[in-house]
Amino acid sequence: MKLLIILSSVLFLSACFDSGDAQEKEANKVQLGKTTFDKHCLVCHGKAGGGIVKDWKKRQADGNFPAPPLNGTAHTWHHSPTQLLRTINDGGVQFGGQMLGFKNQLSEAEKQALLDYIYSLWSKNIQQKYDARFSK
Ligand code: HEC
Repeated sequence: MKLLIILSSVLFLSACFDSGDAQEKEANKVQLGKTTFDKHCLVCHGKAGGGIVKDWKKRQADGNFPAPPLNGTAHTWHHSPTQLLRTINDGGVQFGGQMLGFKNQLSEAEKQALLDYIYSLWSKNIQQKYDARFSK
C-alpha cells in the first residue's frame, strides 16, 4: 500500500513537471518567434503584428495593398498553419502580392516559432476558434 502511494505521488509529480516543461518549451518558441519577427517582419507588419497603416484594405499610392496586421484584426487566423507557412516560405507574389518569401532565409524552427508567435498575438476567442477549426 505504502509503495502504491509513493508510486502514485511520483507519477503525479512527474506529470506536473512535464506540463511545466511543455509550457516552458512553448514560451521559448514564442520568444524565438518574436525575435525572428522583430528582425524580419516588423518593418512591414508593424510592432506585435499590429500593421503600419490605418486601413490595410486600402490600396497604397503605388496600387499595392499594404502588409495586413497579423494580430487577429485581419485575415491571418482564417488560414491554416500550412497556408501561413506557405506564405512565409513563398511570400505573397504567388497571389499577386508584394511580400517576398523567406524560404532560404529562415530555419524550419524559426518558421514554426513565427507561427507560434503570431498565434500568441491573437485574443483567446480567436485562438479558440482557430483551434476548433485547425486543431493546432
Ligand atoms: C517587405 C514587406 C514585408 C515583409 C518584410 C514581410 N511581409 Fe508579410 N506581407 C506583406 C504584404 C504586402 C502582404 C500581403 C500580401 C502580399 O502583398 O504579398 C503580406 C502578407 C503576409 C501574410 C498573410 C496575411 C494574412 O492575413 O493571410 C503573412 C502570414 C505574413 N505576411 C507573414 C510575414 C512574416 C512572418 C514575415 C517575416 C518573416 C513577413 N510577413 C515579412 C509584406 C511583408
